[in-house]
Amino acid sequence: MDDILTIADMKARAKRRVPKMFFDYADSGAYTEGTYQANEDDFQKVKLRQRVLVDMANRSLASEMLGEKVSMPVALAPTGMTGMQHANGEMLAAQAAEEFGIPFTLSTMSICSIEDVASVTTKPFWFQLYVMQDRDFVLNLIDRAKAAGCSALVLTLDLQIQGQRHKDIRNGLSAPPKFTPKHVWQMATRPLWCAQMLGTKRRTFGNIVGHAKSVTDLTSLSVWTSEQFDPHLSWKDVAWIKERWGGKLILKGILDEEDARMAVSTGADAIIVSNHGGRQLDGAPSTISMLPRIVDAVGGHIEVHLDGGIRSGQDVLKALCYGAKGTYIGRPFLYGLGAGGKRGVTRALEIIRKELDTTLALCGERDVRNLSRRNLHQGL
Ligand SMILES: Cc1cc2nc3c(=O)[nH]c(=O)nc-3n(C[C@H](O)[C@H](O)[C@H](O)COP(=O)(O)O)c2cc1C
Repeated sequence: MDDILTIADMKARAKRRVPKMFFDYADSGAYTEGTYQANEDDFQKVKLRQRVLVDMANRSLASEMLGEKVSMPVALAPTGMTGMQHANGEMLAAQAAEEFGIPFTLSTMSICSIEDVASVTTKPFWFQLYVMQDRDFVLNLIDRAKAAGCSALVLTLDLQIQGQRHKDIRNGLSAPPKFTPKHVWQMATRPLWCAQMLGTKRRTFGNIVGHAKSVTDLTSLSVWTSEQFDPHLSWKDVAWIKERWGGKLILKGILDEEDARMAVSTGADAIIVSNHGGRQLDGAPSTISMLPRIVDAVGGHIEVHLDGGIRSGQDVLKALCYGAKGTYIGRPFLYGLGAGGKRGVTRALEIIRKELDTTLALCGERDVRNLSRRNLHQGL
């Protein structure tokens, strides 16, 4: 792992280790993938202000997200089917995050269940909720997250219907994997992945199977998931979810100033400026391009986080300069997992930490909490 110096290196290794259908599942966006690409590209357009001859000893990356201490303001984003990048993926990533001192967010659509992750961690993790039409299932899921001691609920707002990713359709993606000759070939060429996967019983959606009433077998599972996202979800629903949960609430998927102001009025604790990693509305702007406007729109009345396109510690720093209190990485940690399991996730975090620290110093700062727009270069 020490020869892996960048998240791009990690991605290349993951591509060699993970069967194509699951690697593509991570490395894809909706339709033309324009928004997915813009998330990454627009970070490159933000220029940093270089400062010299300022004391840059004793630097600190420590901060807080939602009042929780973090060793750096980077959390692991909720990602579905993480346990298909590597056997027991969610459990391994949660352990890596805990050891690193950053939050881990478990997706509703995870392979390992809430209880699985709780069984291998000692500190609270965060849980991401999709509101399904089966409200009994949703209420039960909230209660399970509470019982597991989760310290924040991340309510995803930008997936009332699913965006289309062409690669997934072409690959015939499913969990557990199908056994057509094409799929068997994809797996057979990744023997280590197969061996690890054969060693776990966790190969389908752990939060759903055995918990949703109508889901008894694989066919009913895929029908259930395709029909269950709720197109009627509205701002009113945030209130009952907030009440049932009773703890810290983060609203994920805000990309518009007006929606950001609506989010403030719900009394939620934080928003995540997010376009679902470019997997939902293709043609939407990048998250970093919207961040300053959204920060200005909420005027300090709610904590603002950002995800989408972060591929380095430099990108984290740029988001902090624009006023994000915290950031999340999705694909970078998935690539780490695919490339090397728990060690790969830790390595991805180490890379980001080192880049963040060096960049902080070269910008003439010592504390990530002091970053602001004055650290960015204005104009060309
Ligand atoms: C493979 C994959 C699966 C995802 N699944 C979920 C999910 O289940 N719930 C959710 O709220 N967001 C999901 N997301 C979106 C991420 O939480 C996050 O917004 C996005 O990955 C950030 O962009 P990045 O991958 O460029 O860091 C997923 C993203 C990816 C790449």
